[in-house]
Amino acid sequence: MIIAANWKAYIESVNKAKELNLLYKKLSARTEHEIILAPPAPFLALLASGNKSKVSFSSQDVSVTLGGAKTGEVTAAAVCASGAKYAIIGHSERRSLGEDNELISEKLQHALAQGLTPILCVGERERDDTGNYLAFLREEITSALSVLSKKDCTKVIIAYEPIWAIGKTAAESITADDLTEMVLYIRKTLADFVSVRNSTNAKVLYGGSVEAGNVSSLENCGIDGFLIGHASVDSKSFSELVKAITPSA
Ligand code: PGA
Repeated sequence: MIIAANWKAYIESVNKAKELNLLYKKLSARTEHEIILAPPAPFLALLASGNKSKVSFSSQDVSVTLGGAKTGEVTAAAVCASGAKYAIIGHSERRSLGEDNELISEKLQHALAQGLTPILCVGERERDDTGNYLAFLREEITSALSVLSKKDCTKVIIAYEPIWAIGKTAAESITADDLTEMVLYIRKTLADFVSVRNSTNAKVLYGGSVEAGNVSSLENCGIDGFLIGHASVDSKSFSELVKAITPSA
């Protein structure tokens, strides 16, 4: 299983970043799951350079620009040079700042061109009785992948993160039945772009109020891991969560 930790902007001090990173290193040595750490950009190179632990690193975003006179932008090339292997792209908290599907698809291409593995976040804002949320999800995936080569499509990790489930508690997160259904739907959508075999093998993560209390009920829903927000920045919560995921689940 992949356990991707999105620190968002929760961590704002070097000491806290180093302290948590140390815990991640220890946990990664003791677990067979792959821990991916996405710290705020200023801490990425600090933690990733010279990293010899099993922890892998990700950015929380990449710029849509390719360098040059673009103040404040962090390009995919810079992310790659910082030691990251992955890049979270299209997180709902970025989409809410105005990022649309077209921009996200461009970012995906920049990340892939640098050899980064994109973690593409998708997910509906709300669920309606008529199933519009399914079409919404399909559009997010389709617009992102339709410009990529078949080969590049197989490299993209999909993180299904329904917006209504983000930043709440385990009790308010998605149910196992609903997650199973959504993962099947995502894989079926992926089959429009890659072979059925590759859609079955594609890596799909779930994110949205994943805590130690609900990982065991969600780990067998056809997913390959989790994208964790608030529970990843608390030592106790994160340690418990990692331990709660069954080995080889
Ligand atoms: P959460 O965040 O675990 O705090 O719900 C998940 C995410 O937004 O990636």
